[in-house]
Amino acid sequence: MELLFILCLVSFGLAYDKASFYGASYISYPLQEAKGVTDISFRFRTHLSDALLLLAAGKTDYCMIRLESGKLKLHINLGAGESELSSSKGTYLNDTQWHHVSIIRREANLTMKVDDNVVKKRLPGRFFELNIHFGIFLGGQGDFSELFLGHMENFRGCMEDVYYNGVKIIEKARSRTGSVHVEGVTWNCAPEFDADINSDISFIDEGAYLVLPKINSRAGGRWQIEFKTITPNAIVLYNPGGGRGSDFLAVEILEGVVRVKMARGLIVHSERVNDGQWHKLHLLFNPSLIELSIDNIAMSTQIESGGTRYLDLSDLFYLGGIESDKRQKAFAKGIKAADSSIMGCIRPIEVDDKIYGLPNAVISYGVSPRCVWWYPCHAGPSPPCVPRATCEQHGVDHFTCKCDTDLCINPDYAEKYKVFSKSSSELELVALYPLTVQEGGVAVITTQNIDVILDHHKYGVRPSGVLLHVAQSPQHGRIAVDLTLQRNLPQYNYVDGEKSKQFFTLMDLSRDKVRYVHDGSENHQDAIVLEMELIPETKFTLPSYLQGRNTFVLHVNVTPVNDPPVLNLLPGKVLRLTQNATCASINFLSCF
Ligand SMILES: *[C@@H]1O[C@H](CO)[C@@H](O)[C@H](O)[C@H]1NC(C)=O
Ligand SMILES: *[C@@H]1O[C@H](CO)[C@@H](O)[C@H](O)[C@H]1NC(C)=O
Ligand SMILES: *[C@@H]1O[C@H](CO)[C@@H](O)[C@H](O)[C@H]1NC(C)=O
Repeated sequence: MELLFILCLVSFGLAYDKASFYGASYISYPLQEAKGVTDISFRFRTHLSDALLLLAAGKTDYCMIRLESGKLKLHINLGAGESELSSSKGTYLNDTQWHHVSIIRREANLTMKVDDNVVKKRLPGRFFELNIHFGIFLGGQGDFSELFLGHMENFRGCMEDVYYNGVKIIEKARSRTGSVHVEGVTWNCAPEFDADINSDISFIDEGAYLVLPKINSRAGGRWQIEFKTITPNAIVLYNPGGGRGSDFLAVEILEGVVRVKMARGLIVHSERVNDGQWHKLHLLFNPSLIELSIDNIAMSTQIESGGTRYLDLSDLFYLGGIESDKRQKAFAKGIKAADSSIMGCIRPIEVDDKIYGLPNAVISYGVSPRCVWWYPCHAGPSPPCVPRATCEQHGVDHFTCKCDTDLCINPDYAEKYKVFSKSSSELELVALYPLTVQEGGVAVITTQNIDVILDHHKYGVRPSGVLLHVAQSPQHGRIAVDLTLQRNLPQYNYVDGEKSKQFFTLMDLSRDKVRYVHDGSENHQDAIVLEMELIPETKFTLPSYLQGRNTFVLHVNVTPVNDPPVLNLLPGKVLRLTQNATCASINFLSCF
């Protein structure tokens, strides 16, 4: 009984029935049935005022739920023509809040409930079976075209708990039951739908892009884009052009510099921009001119307009990358970085004084709000690797140092960082967070400073088998390990590196037994070079990529202390104060 209760709780806690649609995504679930009852319920949230939510498609029959001008509309056809039911007038559902929809049909009796509003209708005709052949579509109809129901915008937002006549569609799609088809859906409610207009945009996945709504640019445009990346080749902005296909506009990074290409004009800027720093790009274009400035260094070129007064850029604008279907055409136009996304961040952009950001996106792929990219190899005065090592970007904000010797990490590097296993660099071993100690003080080194991320238990290694050898002792302090076992007086064992190669274990760390004792010198940086070694229990053998030792550095920040002045008075001597001395300035004496 209790167990059942817990199991129920667990299954409720799982967000198994939630999906994000990104404007070009859809789920199609094959279903064939002919029923006199229809029960549909789901929850959704979106900022779009027009979008397809759900379609149940037959050869002539259908049931379609969509947003039209911010209202929910149900279109249903049981063979005797279409009937329509609309949510109540004054309320707009395109407000990014969750809304609950439930549709109940008993033969001709139709009820639609949206949040707390109920609308009813009696359907015409004599036959009340809804004949479904092609299945259920969520968020978009993909390339399904048997039934033409007019142009439909894809959904962008979240849906959850979608039931169609008792079938949990999202759950079926997620577990890939039967021949369900899923395109570009993630099983969460993505944070980008909550981003505000000022949020930076991270392009994370290879192939990431964002599509802006149509922006009128017949006469040209004035764009301001701020970005950061280390990619030498990438798309910044692209418009494939309109129907005739002669005009287009591409802003790309090629071999580290910005290149703007239009049908009749080309300009290549001289500033190198793939250095991981923010750069500001201003682009002014019209049928006879391209003006490009990077960080306020302007270049321009006249275009042989051939008499045309207007540009045909009526297609959508791609930001940060191009959808895979459109890349081939872009290559054909001479856009060389067509298949490379920016793998970096773009700030909300300004087009002719209007701001566009994540909330304006009509389609996105592989993006996320806020700028999560950080390029440690390209940043700061103290680089993360020793001079003879090569620093490689790892993921969105990490690095790996590669060199011939054991210690590739710069002991002066004072930021937190992660260490990855040598051969398979995907495996995170340990995260280092610099230790802070007061000048002349003692600080406990905890698992928050040396955070072993590797699931060592999985490899048969206990905490006492995770050895941390002190390969190089700190220069301005010592490492002490508390040897007492719940005895009152602490008894330290100083661990000195190099000569003895002593070590402590993860168990010592998690029991707060390891300390750094500063020597009181006026040095405000120190470093402890450690080597991690894993000793599995008998019967276990470590995979080769975890054998041997991994060398890394725990950086120590020493906070200076104002040494108090020392006043030694010999017995019998008298301290005389000048007339002007105040009590406040000499607080160790009592004043009369
Ligand atoms: C919702 O859609 C309506 C109709 O398209 C529009 O007038 C309104 O501004 C939209 N509301 C929001 C919050 O976007
Ligand atoms: C539909 O509604 C009518 C009137 O309320 C009722 O008489 C009829 O039984 C209903 N039909 C079904 C199938 O529930
Ligand atoms: C006391 O010392 C302060 C500066 O320390 C000086 O400005 C002030 O004039 C002095 N007052 C007297 C009475 O000497």
